[in-house]
Amino acid sequence: MLYEMHRHSPNRKRAMKFFVDTAEIAEIRELAETGLLDGVTTNPSLIAKSGRKFTEVIAEICDIVRGPVSAEVAATEYKKMLQEAAVLLGIAKNVCIKVPLTSDGLRACHALSQEGIMVSVTLCFSAAQALLAAKAGATFISPFVGRLDDIGQNGMELIADIVQIYANYPAIKTEVLVASIRNPIHLIEAAKMGADVATIPPSVIKQLYAHPLTDKGLAAFLADWAKTGQSIV
Ligand code: E4P
Repeated sequence: MLYEMHRHSPNRKRAMKFFVDTAEIAEIRELAETGLLDGVTTNPSLIAKSGRKFTEVIAEICDIVRGPVSAEVAATEYKKMLQEAAVLLGIAKNVCIKVPLTSDGLRACHALSQEGIMVSVTLCFSAAQALLAAKAGATFISPFVGRLDDIGQNGMELIADIVQIYANYPAIKTEVLVASIRNPIHLIEAAKMGADVATIPPSVIKQLYAHPLTDKGLAAFLADWAKTGQSIV
């Protein structure tokens, strides 16, 4: 079954999609209630941090969020990846199979995408890798900006390169899912470049709302409103 979100070309000019990068159910529930959450990404480290059984966590997340929920295979060998993918796909219809950007991972990506299955290719650190993922039919490519910055490279330059390359080939349906986001500037720069999706840690999502002038302005409005002695309801 081809998930509707595979068909990203007509969506390119819609607002950037926000996924949350966590496996913590309480955080996901709270964000889902805002109505602004389009999907969830997990990885083995986030599952380990949750301390919970992988398949149970994914099932719970899929109950909360209708959009893509990425579940990463643990195998490194093609056939075993497909076996694991079959188990994960049985959890819910919005499971997106996440594979690493390796030769076996891309082979699995190709096989799964041929079946119309959503696939996210993770651990992308170069434009050449992103091009390979697109050719393998990935639904999402996940370039890790923060981890590139950590080693003294420019993560955002990679996003610019991938967006530019994909735009040269309108037949490419792969969405650029910016990962390893560490601050709101990463997000804004990615949006300026036209990246399709950002997966954002909950702490950074909270930062997006904040501005001191909003707080100050609201405090002044509330103080003035109190002086009127009125109430709306
Ligand atoms: C998401 O899919 C990635 O696994 C995640 O964004 C990695 O982020 P990190 O570099 O902060 O671990």
